[in-house]
Amino acid sequence: MSKPRILVFSGSLRAGSFNQQLATIAAEAARAAGGEVTLISLRDFRMPLFDEDLETAEGMPEAAQRLKALFTGHTGLIIASPEYNSTITAALKNAIDWVSRATSPDEGPLSVLKGKSAAILSASPGGYGGARSLAALRPFLENIQIAVLPDQVSIPKAHEAFDADGKLTDAAQDAAVRSLAAALVVKLA
Ligand SMILES: Cc1cc2nc3c(=O)[nH]c(=O)nc-3n(C[C@H](O)[C@H](O)[C@H](O)COP(=O)(O)O)c2cc1C
Repeated sequence: MSKPRILVFSGSLRAGSFNQQLATIAAEAARAAGGEVTLISLRDFRMPLFDEDLETAEGMPEAAQRLKALFTGHTGLIIASPEYNSTITAALKNAIDWVSRATSPDEGPLSVLKGKSAAILSASPGGYGGARSLAALRPFLENIQIAVLPDQVSIPKAHEAFDADGKLTDAAQDAAVRSLAAALVVKLA
């Protein structure tokens, strides 16, 4: 049986992002659980704000095309979501808006999104660990027909949670991330 292919990224563009560190841990855990994992950073997929006039005039930007191709090639997603003003980042929403768009006349709506399964996590220096971003992310993904695992993980006090190597110092938090990543691999296997 082929390994489930899982695309892992965070909703942060920031160098030194806590959520990218969390995504990296989740990627390693999904790999250890038997997944074929691709870890990316949205920093490497800079794209303009979605604008239908720009789309009509110039088509899908090159970075969005690359990201969409990655979505096409994976059945699972792991997304580590920062919390900005109680919700998801504009960068994450914008990236998904672009990849949701058809690039050929025979392509149905949401073709590269629907039917996928996702695990969601968050990290924040705040006390809620970015959980409110997940409260927004979950229905957003479900409404575009991505099945989100019931469990989720939020890491509060993120500025104290990772060691110099980017590992979670709290064993229970680390185990929760590993368990979530493994559950996605099991679901997709
Ligand atoms: C515009 C903005 C709004 C923010 N709003 C929240 C918030 O509502 N809740 C929260 O816990 N942290 C908030 N933060 C702090 C982020 O959690 C913090 O910058 C975090 O490091 C971002 O994630 P990253 O490290 O993955 O980039 C906000 C940060 C910015 C820049």
